[in-house]
Amino acid sequence: MSGGALDFPTMLSMRLLVLFIHVTAVIVALGGSLFSTFALTPILNSELEPVARIKVMRRVVRRLGWIVLVSLAVLVATGMMNVFYIGAISRLLMVKLVLVIIVIGLAIYQYANVGARIWQASSDGPSPGLAPLVSRFRRVGLTVGSLVLLIVYLSLGLTRVPGALSIG
Ligand code: HEM
Repeated sequence: MSGGALDFPTMLSMRLLVLFIHVTAVIVALGGSLFSTFALTPILNSELEPVARIKVMRRVVRRLGWIVLVSLAVLVATGMMNVFYIGAISRLLMVKLVLVIIVIGLAIYQYANVGARIWQASSDGPSPGLAPLVSRFRRVGLTVGSLVLLIVYLSLGLTRVPGALSIG
């Protein structure tokens, strides 16, 4: 079939399934982080007393850390399969991969370093060292979120920009 009509063998192919999982992992990682930063955290700050707020926050940081880091691992695995299906590594893809490496480094720093220190510093409830850690966690998170949005934008061109499928 042609002219944009539904082609079932293509719609049910492994390539689209892998791309679907790739995009779903972006939605899960980015959606979870945006929800936590712009909806959950402000509400926790205004509605809960410090002791209860910190109890909830440290569990959110830990759980979200797993969700984001596992999503990034899924993105790398499915991304490599995408490259295999496309069969070419373009300049645009190389730029994207550099940004992905930066994002992975920052996300590991955010959750495995800053997040783990928040977890320790809050084990006995509110403590003076907590506020700077929480604001660093938020700053790094906003940087990761912005870079991921940039990566999504660049990714749209991977198979759509004329000539993007060749290095030249
Ligand atoms: C933060 C990490 C990543 C994000 C946010 C991301 C995002 C995306 C998005 C949104 C698309 C769909 C674009 C479209 O509409 O066509 C896509 C496609 C693609 N991604 Fe990623 N990606 C990431 C990591 C990776 C990695 C690590 C690789 C390679 C090792 C990769 C390789 C590709 C390729 C080749 C495509 C095109 C697939 C196709 O159209 O068949 N991505 N990516």
